[in-house]
Amino acid sequence: MQKIKNIIKKFIPKRFLEKRNQNFVIKKYDSYSNYDKELFLEHSNILHQETQLKYIGRIVQLYHIIEKGLTMPEMRLGFGQPKLINLIDKCLDYQKKYDTKNIQYQHAIGVIAEYKNIHQEHQFPLEESLLVKIKSILEKESDLKITKQLIKTKANYFEHQLAAFDTFSNSRHSIRNFSGTIKSEQIEEAIRLAQNTPTACNRQPIRVHIIENKELIAEAFKIQNGNRGFGHLVDKLLVITADISSYQDSEERNLPYVDGGMYTMNLLYALHFNKVAAIPLNWCRTKEEDLKMRKVISIPNSEIIIVFVGCGNLPDDFKLAVSKRYDYKDIFTKHN
Ligand SMILES: Cc1cc2nc3c(=O)[nH]c(=O)nc-3n(C[C@H](O)[C@H](O)[C@H](O)COP(=O)(O)O)c2cc1C
Repeated sequence: MQKIKNIIKKFIPKRFLEKRNQNFVIKKYDSYSNYDKELFLEHSNILHQETQLKYIGRIVQLYHIIEKGLTMPEMRLGFGQPKLINLIDKCLDYQKKYDTKNIQYQHAIGVIAEYKNIHQEHQFPLEESLLVKIKSILEKESDLKITKQLIKTKANYFEHQLAAFDTFSNSRHSIRNFSGTIKSEQIEEAIRLAQNTPTACNRQPIRVHIIENKELIAEAFKIQNGNRGFGHLVDKLLVITADISSYQDSEERNLPYVDGGMYTMNLLYALHFNKVAAIPLNWCRTKEEDLKMRKVISIPNSEIIIVFVGCGNLPDDFKLAVSKRYDYKDIFTKHN
């Protein structure tokens, strides 16, 4: 049978076979795109069918915005009030339906209290209506634990640089306050170390674009969404991309992000090891914004932008957002 097939194939023009193969690949990719789309629309937080996890997801995102505001280089008193009101409303809604012992919910309440206290300490008059709202959520908490964003100094931030991995990895944080410059060699050393990142089939698709020119950094930051209040202090900006040239199946469509994510975490540790303060910055942008970025610096079309990493030197003292984690026992499931 195979023999007959091979004989028939010989008489079919090569171009026809190529076209047929191409159509097959495109159809397969479309079916996966639809599968991805269905999963994402059904289970992500875009369309807002309620589950506890989706509620908590929105609460975490909102309290983290407040945490970031509390740790900005120049904290703007009175900042983020619409977000705070939204956060309180979400928490009031959440507590009617779900478990209020949830670590993230508790942390959110603590952040709301911290916001109020800091404004009191600075004698900044918050509007009465906001104070009433804050009171409405705090008075329901019998066991209120007010959060405290972290305070560090340049001297102690890197003190665990050579410590055992558990201590070292716990000492890394996203930095949103920079001062002065760092040497290019420190970044290059980190990139050299991060070359040990595993990649699928060892194809090593990751590329790093280092932007040193301040005007270009400012242009890139006009497009990136998440650097307000500290982007102007970043000394060097890394754009992490994945070159998709060596991926060869539709089933691999998400691998650039897997390889890129693994690389970026490893690079963050390598930067920390080389005493470079750093922060990963999302590249969740529209097609138009993605194309615009490719005009700021020349990025080959075969490279997908994965994430930015802002780098710099530390000021003498600075604040860090707590970024509360779940207990590790809450995030694994054993299947026996
Ligand atoms: C993919 C990714 C994108 C991020 N984007 C931003 C961003 O745009 N702006 C920002 O301030 N922080 C950003 N962060 C930093 C996170 O807020 C931070 O990693 C998280 O709160 C945990 O804190 P830690 O890094 O200090 O442990 C991003 C982190 C990741 C992993």
